[in-house]
Amino acid sequence: MLNIAVVGCGYWGPNHIRNFRTVPECRVTKVCDLDKKRLAHMQSLYPEIETSTDFDLLVSDPVVNALVVATSTSTHYPLAKKALAAGKHVLIEKPMASSVKQCRELLDLATRHRLTIMVGHTFVYSAPVRKIKQLIDAGELGEIRHISSSRLNLGLFQKDINVAWDLAPHDISIIDFFLGKDPIAVNCQGKAHVTPGIEDVTNMSLDFENGAFATIQSSWLHPNKTRIMAIVGSKKMAVYDDNEPLEKVKVYDKRVEVPPHYDTFADFHYSYHYGDMYAPHLSLYEPLKVEAQQFVECVRTGASPDSGGRHGLKVVQVLEAASRSLKKGGARIAIADDE
Ligand SMILES: NC(=O)c1ccc[n+]([C@@H]2O[C@H](COP(=O)([O-])OP(=O)(O)OC[C@H]3O[C@@H](n4cnc5c(N)ncnc54)[C@H](O)[C@@H]3O)[C@@H](O)[C@H]2O)c1
Repeated sequence: MLNIAVVGCGYWGPNHIRNFRTVPECRVTKVCDLDKKRLAHMQSLYPEIETSTDFDLLVSDPVVNALVVATSTSTHYPLAKKALAAGKHVLIEKPMASSVKQCRELLDLATRHRLTIMVGHTFVYSAPVRKIKQLIDAGELGEIRHISSSRLNLGLFQKDINVAWDLAPHDISIIDFFLGKDPIAVNCQGKAHVTPGIEDVTNMSLDFENGAFATIQSSWLHPNKTRIMAIVGSKKMAVYDDNEPLEKVKVYDKRVEVPPHYDTFADFHYSYHYGDMYAPHLSLYEPLKVEAQQFVECVRTGASPDSGGRHGLKVVQVLEAASRSLKKGGARIAIADDE
């Protein structure tokens, strides 16, 4: 039996508590928050769970084997570091930490102590993302040329990170899961309209060595909630609209072909292919539940999670490069993997 403690009972932490309570091989024994009102609320929902405002008490408790860190981003590193140093497995919410250096330190600690480290890149566990990954791996879309993603809504404004660090981790982690390749460079532009110094609108682009290109639009300043991603392959194209209640993925048999041979410009014609569209069947489940199940399984077996520490580190590498690009007005920043 794995005894789990959750730190952070704001908006997202309670979703972890609810989901981990459904995984048979584990038990949520303790929760921690600095805010006593949040703890009182958790206690009213789950009277059997112990509550505390003191993280150090939680981390030194020998009964606790694993910790979920669901606090604001700037606290991920210090809390996860203490937990790993105390021999606890950790599931850290996205983004993994505030810098590449911090992520590497956490990864090193986990490796040295043989502990599981997982990052809450929840979409990697969702049915639409898993379906598109299957299509890509089966070659149905052909070679992936372009991915464009928009994640827009009004708020929730964060105080310690800009919109790219808040929303783009979802897109970057999905793109990484799809392509299995690291981008070589990032460009990012943005503006802070509401809170000085904290961009609320950003446009990022990722360049890959094989010619693939991805664009990510993130906004806290948009009238409509938009969660849409287009995956353009050389054979077919897929559109993933997370706002659709049922048909979240649509596969379009559309492509453009350039004739292999032509003698004069007059002979040159692009050939546009327009075929059918279908929406693959998706089994509907809560991605966070699958994430929780995988975390427990990885702790038990020592296997690496789909969104393990390395995946979390790659996402932060992109975000850090994007921040540098933002400061330079959108300049191209190479991503160096100096390991
Ligand atoms: N995976 C997802 O889809 C997803 C969705 C939303 C949020 N998140 C992530 O979850 C994390 C929390 O986001 P949120 O929206 O719930 O934030 P929030 O501000 O609503 O909640 C954070 C809670 O952490 C508590 N806290 C902060 N520092 C603490 C400390 N040192 N010790 C104990 N408690 C502390 C705060 O009192 C607060 O109740 C963030 O990293 C965010 O990026 C992930």
